[in-house]
Amino acid sequence: MKLKIAVLPGDGIGPEITQQAVKVLKSVADRFDHDFHFEEALVGATAIDQLNNPLPDATLDLCKEADAVLFGAIGHPKYDNDPSAKIRPEQGLLKLRKELGLFANVRPITTYSKLIEQSPLRPERINGADMVIYRELTGGIYFGEKFISEDGNSATDICTYSVSEIERVAHLAFQAAQKRRKKLTLVDKANVLETSRLWRKTVTELAKDYPDVKLEFLFVDNAAMQMIVNPKQFDVILTENMFGDILSDEASVIAGSIGLLASASIGLKAALFEPIHGSYPEAAGKGIANPVAAILSAAMLLDHFNLTEEANAIRSAVNLSIELNVCTQDINKDNHYSTEKIGDFLDGLISDNDNISIN
Ligand code: IPM
Ligand code: MN
Repeated sequence: MKLKIAVLPGDGIGPEITQQAVKVLKSVADRFDHDFHFEEALVGATAIDQLNNPLPDATLDLCKEADAVLFGAIGHPKYDNDPSAKIRPEQGLLKLRKELGLFANVRPITTYSKLIEQSPLRPERINGADMVIYRELTGGIYFGEKFISEDGNSATDICTYSVSEIERVAHLAFQAAQKRRKKLTLVDKANVLETSRLWRKTVTELAKDYPDVKLEFLFVDNAAMQMIVNPKQFDVILTENMFGDILSDEASVIAGSIGLLASASIGLKAALFEPIHGSYPEAAGKGIANPVAAILSAAMLLDHFNLTEEANAIRSAVNLSIELNVCTQDINKDNHYSTEKIGDFLDGLISDNDNISIN
């Protein structure tokens, strides 16, 4: 298969983890005889530094004509600590999501038996937990009107959802549930928010098209607690933009490290694949960042084009590396490997090289 992949490394650890994901995709292309063409572009704080624009036109154009986008990470502390900054790295990612119509963000959470002890949660509670979060990605409070009063004493963020925005992501979540354990949990705050009541009504109506899927509802505060107390009850979680952002970081605790969690954002044009973690600026350039989330995002990219065997080759290699303790320091404190070494090791496993060395 021929694919044009836009690569947006972004900020902090973004470039080093993305490099490993590209390495692994190249090794998949070699082994399975595909033609993947990679083209890099600027985004985020890096793009602001060079062009004073977190999403330069050239980047957006490249993403629009690409088959898929591989995204690293975004964000820089100099903006986090400056609430008055008008141009911010995150705007690059948010605009890209909107422009590409990426309305569904898919975040799978699984456990690795070797890492069960890594989680601060009790092993018996998380062992076997396996869920996927469908987060609405181009609506809600993230994209509503925002303003600050003239005197600076009050600020407003408006949350809006339409039936069609809810339906399109809900369809995908129901279809995912049909292929899994056939349970869908809608997380909302319908006891307080009008938008949440619209979510409930719309999703309940849609459920008639999916009679094999069991639909449940949870308020987001309760869901946050259930995620820790009994994560195994979840199969597919469907939720709005901000609740999904918060719950998916929380859910990463189950996997043992946020450095393992991948995501796919799908919608109207090219799909985008990115780790759920941020730019981790403290670690940038040190070779300690975990590239697995970026690499598993590359596997989701392959899934998106129905290259299932190829995606599974990546996942098997990742599973084996974790089994063998070939991990970065977030997972293996005592005997850890660098970002690049992990990429090389997975590359070696995928290319089926008999002489893999981990030293
Ligand atoms: C994420 C991130 C983004 C979000 C930020 C960087 C804008 O936290 O992808 O989860 O809030 O959506
Ligand atoms: Mn987030």
